[in-house]
Amino acid sequence: MNQTELKKLVGQKSVDWIKDGMIVGLGTGSTVKFMVDELGRKVKEEGLNVVGVTTSNVTAKQATELGIPLKSVDEVDHIDLTIDGADEISADFQGIKGGGAALLFEKIVATNSKKNLWIVDESKMVETLGAFPLPVEVIPYGSQRIFDRFEEKGLNPSFRKKADGGLLLTDSDNYIIDLHLGRIEDPHALADYLIKQVGVVEHGLFLDRVNTVIVGKQTGPEVLEA
Ligand code: A5P
Repeated sequence: MNQTELKKLVGQKSVDWIKDGMIVGLGTGSTVKFMVDELGRKVKEEGLNVVGVTTSNVTAKQATELGIPLKSVDEVDHIDLTIDGADEISADFQGIKGGGAALLFEKIVATNSKKNLWIVDESKMVETLGAFPLPVEVIPYGSQRIFDRFEEKGLNPSFRKKADGGLLLTDSDNYIIDLHLGRIEDPHALADYLIKQVGVVEHGLFLDRVNTVIVGKQTGPEVLEA
C-alpha cells in the first residue's frame, strides 16, 4: 500500500469509534478527508445520527456537501470525540500538527473534546519530534518582529507561502511561521516559550492531548492507546 492507501485505511477505520448520538470533532487534512467521506456515507446510508464540529473551512465544506449536520464549537456544550490527523507523533504520544494550517481551530476543538483520536500513516510515527517544521500561527501585525526574535533564538523560522509566493493566510487571517528545528528536546519548554510571545496566537505542539492513535501499516491498522 502506498501512503494515500494507508491514510484511507485509517481514515475509514476510525469511523468505527463514532457512535450514534455523538458530537464529533472533525479534523483537517488528507487523512481526515477519508474519515469524513466514510462518516458522510454512514449518515446517508445507515442513518447514523451525529453532529460534527469542524476545524477548518475545507472540512466544513466537505461535511456540508455530504449532508453531515454541523454546529460550531460555541453551539455545543461538549464534544464526545475528535478525530484528526497529525504531522508527527513521538514515542511518548506528543504531536506536531498544523501542516494544513488549521492548528488553531484544531487545538480549540481538541481542547474541548472528551477524547482525541489521531489517524496517521506509519511515516508520521517518530522517536523524537522536530523533523517536521513546527507551525506557529501569528497575527500579521508585528509578525516580522516575532520572526526576528525566533531567528535570534536559533529557531530557523520561515514564513509559510502560497504557491504564488504570497504569504499564506489561515482561516482566521493570520500568518504561519514554520520553525525548522530538526529535533525538539523539550516540547513542553518550547510550548511555554512560544505561547508567551506577544502576537503568537497558537503553535502546533499538541502535548498530552491524544488518547488513541490509529497507525496505518502495511499489515493493517494498529491501534495504540496513549
Ligand atoms: C492540519 O492543520 C494538520 O494538523 C493535519 O491534521 C496534519 O497536517 C495531517 O495532515 P495529513 O492527514 O494531510 O497528512
